[in-house]
Amino acid sequence: MQLKMKKSILSLFGLLIISQLYAATFKVQPYLIYPNNNQQMTLLWKTDSKPKSTTVQWGTTESYGKKATKVTEFGKSQYKFNITGLKPGTRYYYKVTVDGQEESGFFNSAPEADVSKVTFYALGDTRYGLTKTQYTEPLAKVMLKNIDSDIKNNNTFCLHTGDWGSIGSEFFSRQQPTLQYITSRIPIMGTKGNHDGDSFGQFYPYVGTDKNGTGIHAFEYGPAFIVSCRSAKPGTDHYKWIENQLQSTTKKIKIILIHHPGWCAYAPKNSGSTKGMQALFAKNGVSLVITGHAHIYSRSMVDGIPHITIGSGSPIREIDPDLPKVTVAESSCNYMRIDINGDELSTSTYRLKGTLIETFRIKVPVVSTYSEDDESASKKTKKSKKSKKSKKNKK
Ligand SMILES: [Fe+2]
Repeated sequence: MQLKMKKSILSLFGLLIISQLYAATFKVQPYLIYPNNNQQMTLLWKTDSKPKSTTVQWGTTESYGKKATKVTEFGKSQYKFNITGLKPGTRYYYKVTVDGQEESGFFNSAPEADVSKVTFYALGDTRYGLTKTQYTEPLAKVMLKNIDSDIKNNNTFCLHTGDWGSIGSEFFSRQQPTLQYITSRIPIMGTKGNHDGDSFGQFYPYVGTDKNGTGIHAFEYGPAFIVSCRSAKPGTDHYKWIENQLQSTTKKIKIILIHHPGWCAYAPKNSGSTKGMQALFAKNGVSLVITGHAHIYSRSMVDGIPHITIGSGSPIREIDPDLPKVTVAESSCNYMRIDINGDELSTSTYRLKGTLIETFRIKVPVVSTYSEDDESASKKTKKSKKSKKSKKNKK
């Protein structure tokens, strides 16, 4: 009898060890994406193998209360779950359990659509492989401190200007624990950078992501409407999509998130395609254009519309503050906080140590001074200069 019991205990112990050996573990802890609905929030995570069991729990207290075991698989060992039925502007707690391993967090659901006040953040170019933890981790710490100074109002969302990484492991990397912790609390809504490649589509299955995974999407959040796009030439489907988005919203505050700047204080990174979109922005009431790619801080005023370039991780570049349209510029690693309060939009950009580069305020909606006559006059001058040059060369 005793021998039988010993054998059973040993087999149970063996089974337990085997089940632990083959248990899936988190490779990327749950992070959030805002699905453009203030009663919903999407949780995403990645494991090293297919879990035998997954449970998602959520609720307004740390005891949760709601539970689901069916989640959506997309890609390899990548999962998502859309939490629905949320009350706007409310703190929610969640826990995801895979094969007995737990990861938990909390978020604030998006506010009611008619609120006039909202705060959110922006960062970008956080590629881990380039600078390891030299920039992004200390910067994420100061940004987290800012969020934590008023969790009720600041724990909202963050825009990412692109260039998470060249390889998948740089996205939501455990080597950047503070940034990863932030992503478990606020949705980071990204646009695709030139380095992000196919990995982007795996981590950002946006509502609105196009079939090529270029990460275009648009969403409303309180008084703001944000369009995340790529530089596009007039006449292309992408250009028409942006135009359609800007014209179909009823929000007066329209923000463009795009990786490549048009006018920043580092000339080699300025994009002719983004410049070519200025008429589209001006004619459709864009209030602010946020860009990355140049790894500096730079604010240019173009026809009354601010174009702000930020950089939060990759090597910092030298600036040329005398470039056209550049108003304020600095060679520093930074993140930006955006506050909207009624008809005022303000941006405050902070350095690695938490000190302020500048606070910029503008009345919204922005009335652009863009004129098609000026544009065609400038094109004619350029054309005539070109033709004079070519005649000279022929001589
Ligand atoms: Fe870039």
